[in-house]
Amino acid sequence: MTPSAMTSGTRSRADAAALREIQAPVRERLDLVAGELWRIVASDLPLVLEINAHLAGMKGKMFRPTLVLLASATAGCAQERAVPVAAALETLHLASLVHDDAVDHSVLRRGMPTVNALFSHQHAVLMGDFLYARALTELVRLNDWDVARIFADASTQITLGEMRQLGALDALAFGESDYDQLIRAKTASLFRAATELGALCGAAAYRAPLARYGERLGMAFQVVDDLLDYTEDAEVTGKPSGLDLREHKVTLPLIAALPEFDAAARRRVEALFAAPDPEDAQVAEVVDLVARHGGLDYARRRGEVLAREAEEALAPLPESPARAALTDAVGYVLDRRA
Ligand code: IPE
Ligand code: IPE
Ligand code: MG
Ligand code: MG
Repeated sequence: MTPSAMTSGTRSRADAAALREIQAPVRERLDLVAGELWRIVASDLPLVLEINAHLAGMKGKMFRPTLVLLASATAGCAQERAVPVAAALETLHLASLVHDDAVDHSVLRRGMPTVNALFSHQHAVLMGDFLYARALTELVRLNDWDVARIFADASTQITLGEMRQLGALDALAFGESDYDQLIRAKTASLFRAATELGALCGAAAYRAPLARYGERLGMAFQVVDDLLDYTEDAEVTGKPSGLDLREHKVTLPLIAALPEFDAAARRRVEALFAAPDPEDAQVAEVVDLVARHGGLDYARRRGEVLAREAEEALAPLPESPARAALTDAVGYVLDRRA
């Protein structure tokens, strides 16, 4: 075993243990969510069957359904329908990942080949559409306009967030407030939807705090995701390392470090952004420059601030094992490696 594989094993075990503990108060229902998800996306078209079989073999963390169920328990209304609602939300998440990997030209997700890599770009576009459509079908079955409204808003925001990223043509002019807006849309909107959906059946007074918690947690989650893209190996995260820079995506570590760069360092970054297909050494060099100019430390601190805001949002909620798990989820988001 290589040293990095050893690290990976240890880290992923620690991650898995922390996640298991957070999921413990809703374990039984969460196990039902996975079954519901495969019911929602079932089809007898051979190609869809084949892609579904591949997706079913890629295990995600089920973090958003966990948030739906924990928020629902915290709001004191753990209803049966939280399970299909959580499954529809995970279906929407899966659709966004299938599309995101095609958009990002990514070949690895959850340690497995992406749909675009294993099948084709066209398959990823159509399969993502299919998954979105099936989430919509489930919403029709649930026949609840409040639920449907939250889904519609989140899926609009995710798409606009991904569009914002694509539209950042002058990448190096992309500042921290642009970045905040982007991650709120593309990632935090779905986290917020998760905790709002969970809160829907409880007292009205719990909705705003849980929605705020979801939003701040989702932003912290994306800041950490962007840090992991700089710091961790693919065997740890299950996703390609350094892909953001390779794809000319400006994330918080670079935004924070750029003003500290001298002219020579800035030229290295400009060269990377001008290269249609940057070399590994070019990416490694910019990662090193960002680290040496405090970009990683800055992003880490920003993640911690957002996480603290998430935790503070929980203050008005009554104490319970589910609320304690939401508090632990904040630490998990900061410490996770995958
Ligand atoms: C990946 O989300 C997309 C981001 C918002 C960074 P997760 O890291 O929750 O993905 P899975 O579902 O566990 O694979
Ligand atoms: C994730 O953004 C946001 C969505 C999937 C909508 P990223 O592109 O950073 O996510 P990963 O790193 O591919 O999971
Ligand atoms: Mg991506
Ligand atoms: Mg990423």
